[in-house]
Amino acid sequence: MRHLSLSSVNLAQAERSPWLDMLSVLRDKLLSNPGMYRFALSNPLTRWFTQQRTRQVFDVMAGFVHSQVLLACVRLKLFEKVMKEPKTLQQLSQLTHVPEAGLQRLIQSALALNLLEQRSAYRYGLGPLGSVIAMDEGIKAMIEHNNLLYHDMVDPVAILQDSWSGQLNDYWPYAQEQSADAAHRVEHASDEYARYSELMAASQTFVIEEILSSYLFHEHHCVLDVGAGKGRFACALAKKYPSLDVNIFDLPHVTQVSRQLIEQKGLSSRIKVHAGDFTNDVLPEGADLVTLVRIAHDHNDDVLLGLLKSIFASLPAGGTLLLAEPMAIEPGEKPHGDAYFHFYLLAMGSGRLRTPSELMHLMKLAGFSHLETVPNAMPVHTRILLGRKSLSVSPS
Ligand SMILES: C[S@@+](CC[C@H](N)C(=O)[O-])C[C@H]1O[C@@H](n2cnc3c(N)ncnc32)[C@H](O)[C@@H]1O
Repeated sequence: MRHLSLSSVNLAQAERSPWLDMLSVLRDKLLSNPGMYRFALSNPLTRWFTQQRTRQVFDVMAGFVHSQVLLACVRLKLFEKVMKEPKTLQQLSQLTHVPEAGLQRLIQSALALNLLEQRSAYRYGLGPLGSVIAMDEGIKAMIEHNNLLYHDMVDPVAILQDSWSGQLNDYWPYAQEQSADAAHRVEHASDEYARYSELMAASQTFVIEEILSSYLFHEHHCVLDVGAGKGRFACALAKKYPSLDVNIFDLPHVTQVSRQLIEQKGLSSRIKVHAGDFTNDVLPEGADLVTLVRIAHDHNDDVLLGLLKSIFASLPAGGTLLLAEPMAIEPGEKPHGDAYFHFYLLAMGSGRLRTPSELMHLMKLAGFSHLETVPNAMPVHTRILLGRKSLSVSPS
């Protein structure tokens, strides 16, 4: 049985003014009135809003088809095939071994979704969205990986039950180890750890860019990246900041993989690798900055609080924690990838998407102060929080 943590009550939402509720009731009445819909469409002042909202409803309803069109394009390597030179339907049919009639439906759908674009002489090239996907192996790897979530969500009500379990939970060995029905630790083959570490490394590019372009590491002399995966972020840090001592910490099966990458990049003398389990082992000391990149959301509140306390204990007075991952919206903010991440973590069977305030609350409980957010350009990839261990804290 899964034991997921409940989101704490969002106080700001609970305190929403009753006056705003009355406005919402009025809006609901207007929007659900068929006469009002026809009036709004015929009125030039309101037509655009009505069309926009109707399109949004349609897109939400059709979202599962859109994601499968995308998956088909990725599996058939359509983006790669048209990247250098646009191709005709016949050429693409020969290259993909898909009959023209079926492929034409896929291409028409991909055109409608801006994945492909019509070019001269009845050829097809990359569309504005296809260009972004074509250049990034990480996005393609995630699109393929999302097929697990697609299967898990086939009954979107069953997945809400405590007793539910599916393919994504199997994919992440450490999520199973935390679930309450795992009576004893399951022994997983090292290739399961290598498989998810590959995926994480491939999908970390944009996250690394966000962190490195938003936070200056000059004030630190030693960093420990906890849950570092293959160590791509550590390698990027070591390269960008030649005087920074870099350490990574992850489960033993994963550090086997990270050692290989670090060696390949010629950074073995710059990056020290520590193998361990942060739920049991003490974190190495010596770093004045600990980074947690895409870690907190994988864990339930009790495990996360334990980890934050271990990090706090490992830091010297004045030390810093940098926590980076996608976060849930606070009231009034525009959603980034909330629906996706809420269900991804639900299917994974461990952890949850938290708001910056919820994370800061847990950081505070662990002892951190001077909590702040670091503004960054693309919150869908990650948001960034900082916490400090106050200078006045006596060494433990
Ligand atoms: C979602 S991945 C993120 C990896 C990397 N930080 C990134 O952003 O690509 C989570 C990482 O936390 C590690 N991890 C999970 N549980 C752990 C534990 N109990 N002790 C140490 N590492 C753990 C996993 O092995 C994995 O590498």
